[in-house]
Amino acid sequence: MSQRKRESNANELSRRGFLKGAGLGAGAVATGVMTPAETLLAAEKKDEIRGPGELAVTLRVNGRRHRLQVEPRVTLLDALRDRLGVTGPKKVCDHGECGACTVLLDGRPVYACMNLAADVAARNLPVETVENLGTPEHLNTLQQEWVRQDASQCGFCTSGFIMAATALLRDTPHPSPEQVREQLSGNLCRCGTYPKIFAAVEAAARRGPGSA
Ligand code: FES
Ligand code: FES
Repeated sequence: MSQRKRESNANELSRRGFLKGAGLGAGAVATGVMTPAETLLAAEKKDEIRGPGELAVTLRVNGRRHRLQVEPRVTLLDALRDRLGVTGPKKVCDHGECGACTVLLDGRPVYACMNLAADVAARNLPVETVENLGTPEHLNTLQQEWVRQDASQCGFCTSGFIMAATALLRDTPHPSPEQVREQLSGNLCRCGTYPKIFAAVEAAARRGPGSA
């Protein structure tokens, strides 16, 4: 089971309990080290229940701060796509299974559909999406290799794979084939382009640090 799958199982608690999940106790989240589930439980203990109406939150996305109103049940994925127009992360399963919604939260790949926007905002964690990488005119190295290796068919999985691979290449510029497969094990490609996806990541790694 991939790390993201394990974490998404824990986060399911915060989604199920969304009405109480708005209980974002300031003390509980101030350290920024609590998981969503721990934050929820701490808030419940203090009986700090807010919502279900909208909350004013600030999300840090791709280096910009965005003020918005969200109900506590709104996922990070819906906030990005529907409120902020950041549509790189794709909504496919909406249930922590496919990885199409993968974004980097404080540099770590997570399923945006399994995190609550209000919780991410309360923890003041930076969010990075594929929009923060190359542009259509100036693809970064990893994206260039994606094209060169023909690693996309329908493309629905692509941004999620690229964000997961980006996290890997930033931490481990020269990963082994096994490390590439392990890192990408939380992402599914229904078109079955896995060999080309792995080849793209490995080719980018060969081009050296800074490829992501
Ligand atoms: S849409 Fe989030 S994991 Fe599938
Ligand atoms: S390219 Fe179609 S799901 Fe991966």
